[in-house]
Amino acid sequence: MDGHEGWDDYAPYYDWENAQTVGRRDIAFWQRMASAVDGPVLELGCGTGRVALPVARQGVTVVGIDRSAPMLDRARTRVKRARLQSRIHLVRGDIRHLPFPNRSFPLVMAPYGILQSLLVERDLTRTLAAVTRVLTRKGTFGLELVADLPAWDEYSRRVSMRGKLGPSGKPVTLFESVTQDRRRHITRFDQEFVEGRGKDAVHRQFNLAFRTLTVPQMVRRLETAGLEVSALLGDYQGGPWDLRAEVWIILARRG
Ligand SMILES: C[S@@+](CC[C@H](N)C(=O)[O-])C[C@H]1O[C@@H](n2cnc3c(N)ncnc32)[C@H](O)[C@@H]1O
Repeated sequence: MDGHEGWDDYAPYYDWENAQTVGRRDIAFWQRMASAVDGPVLELGCGTGRVALPVARQGVTVVGIDRSAPMLDRARTRVKRARLQSRIHLVRGDIRHLPFPNRSFPLVMAPYGILQSLLVERDLTRTLAAVTRVLTRKGTFGLELVADLPAWDEYSRRVSMRGKLGPSGKPVTLFESVTQDRRRHITRFDQEFVEGRGKDAVHRQFNLAFRTLTVPQMVRRLETAGLEVSALLGDYQGGPWDLRAEVWIILARRG
C-alpha cells in the first residue's frame, strides 16, 4: 500500500470527521507562521483546504498541492464560495516531486501529519529534498507530526464515530479497525463508512496508513536533507517540545 491511497474515498467524510477531531486547533498557528513571511506559502497535502482557506483569509497567497482529485474538488468549491481564487492556487501533484521552480517559497507548511503519509524511507528522502529545493534562501519548513498515532490502541471493527452528514442530515456511522506494524512504524486504519440505514444503506470501505518517526528521528532526516532545525514546539502557542508533548511541530530553515 502507498500512503496516498485511501484519500479519494475518504474525501466525502474528511471534513465531517475532522470537525469532530482536529477541528481548528492548529489554524491560528499556521496563520501566524504564514503572516510572518513575505511571499507565497506552499502547503503540502492541502486536502479540502482546511488550513489553506483561513491562511489565505489573512491576505497570504497559498499554493496547495495534493494528489487526490476528490479532496481538491472540495477545496475548489470552498475557495470559490469564499471568493479566494486570486489567493489560493490548487495544484494536483505529488509531494515527492514538487512541480515548482527552485527557491519559490519562503515558507513550506506540512500540517496535520502529511509527512506520515510517506510510508517508506525513500519517499521521505525525496520529499525533503524537494522541499529544500523549493525553499528560498533562509526559507522555513514547518511540519506537524500527529503524535498519538504510534500509541493508538489496536481494535477491530469498532463504531468510532456516528452522526449526520451534509445538508441532508443523512445518518453516517464509521466502523474502524486499527493495526500497528511496530517494526515498520506504520499505523493502519481500515475504515468503513455506512451512510443511511437498513437495506438502503451505502457502504464505503478503504484503508489509510501512516508511518510515524519520532521527533529526534525526523530531526536527523531534516539535517540530512540540508535543513537546520530552528525550533521544536510542543503546543500551538509556541511552547517547547519534550518527550511528553502531545503536539509535535518542527521548524527548520534552509541554511
Ligand atoms: C491529513 S490530510 C491533510 C489535509 C490538510 N492539510 C488538513 O490539514 O486538513 C492529508 C492529505 O495529503 C494528501 N496526500 C497524501 N499523500 C500525498 C502525496 N504523496 N502527494 C500529495 N498529496 C498527498 C491526501 O490526498 C490528503 O488530502
